[in-house]
Amino acid sequence: MQPRRPPARAEGHAPVHGYGLYWRSVGDGNGRAPVLMLHGGPGMSHDYLAPFEDLAGFGYRVVFYDQLGCGRSERARDPIDYSIDRDVADLDELRRRLGLGRVHLIGSSYGGLLAIAYTLAHPEGVRTLVSASGLADVPLAVREMQRLVRSLPPEMTAAIAEGDASGTYDSPAYAAAVAEFYRRHLCRLEPWPPEVTYTLANVSLPKYGRMNGPNEFTIVGTIRDWSVTDRLGEIRLPTLITVGRYDEVTPAVAESIHRGIPGSELHQFGASSHLAFWEERADYFALLRRFLDRHG
Ligand code: ALA
Repeated sequence: MQPRRPPARAEGHAPVHGYGLYWRSVGDGNGRAPVLMLHGGPGMSHDYLAPFEDLAGFGYRVVFYDQLGCGRSERARDPIDYSIDRDVADLDELRRRLGLGRVHLIGSSYGGLLAIAYTLAHPEGVRTLVSASGLADVPLAVREMQRLVRSLPPEMTAAIAEGDASGTYDSPAYAAAVAEFYRRHLCRLEPWPPEVTYTLANVSLPKYGRMNGPNEFTIVGTIRDWSVTDRLGEIRLPTLITVGRYDEVTPAVAESIHRGIPGSELHQFGASSHLAFWEERADYFALLRRFLDRHG
């Protein structure tokens, strides 16, 4: 018997609006539309999205990249370039540079926000849209996160309130509360997969701090008021929305996207938080494969 050929791999830096953006591709796609992956943060890197390589085993070409200022991509010379508009423009340019055509656009968390923003601006570049614990209304997501903070043990809720009031986020009590929030609502696997630990440890602070804030549930950065809830009806593409039952970007956020996008599908993973593609990997990719094959 012939041994199974390993999937084709390629990587490089693409010139995008004056910066080298790192990209990496797995699988050859067999003539199908490629999958383009958008990581979260804003300020993380593509590393924690590793499970999406599973799609290469189902006959898809999967392209990952690090957004401006993140991972192995170049840092912006002026932090003003850390913005949603810039990430949308870069994504369009990268898609053209790599000759990807219409893509299956899959975004995790902030990547889901970016996927929605991109689809509103450039529907011609998108074949299907997948929001993996994404958001379309940051104020709603923040209100929901504050509710989750209030459900932590009282001493932790108090430590977070104290940190917010004083603007100091580095006390041991505050750090313990962040760790507990992440254990409940970011990734429930113990231990975390090394790719997740690596991504969190190497977050791009200039971008994360400017756009998001000091941690996942304190979104005080430039994206804090962003919402496109009232424009979601413009999206007329096959759309899949996934969320974890215990997700920091809560089921209420996912439901609001689902209500807004006509014909969209919503799936909640009952044993997951923010990273269902790790926490319930086999079920996640069975669902995603069915969705992509239907619209491939
Ligand atoms: N900070 C959230 C994320 O992981 C929104 O992208």
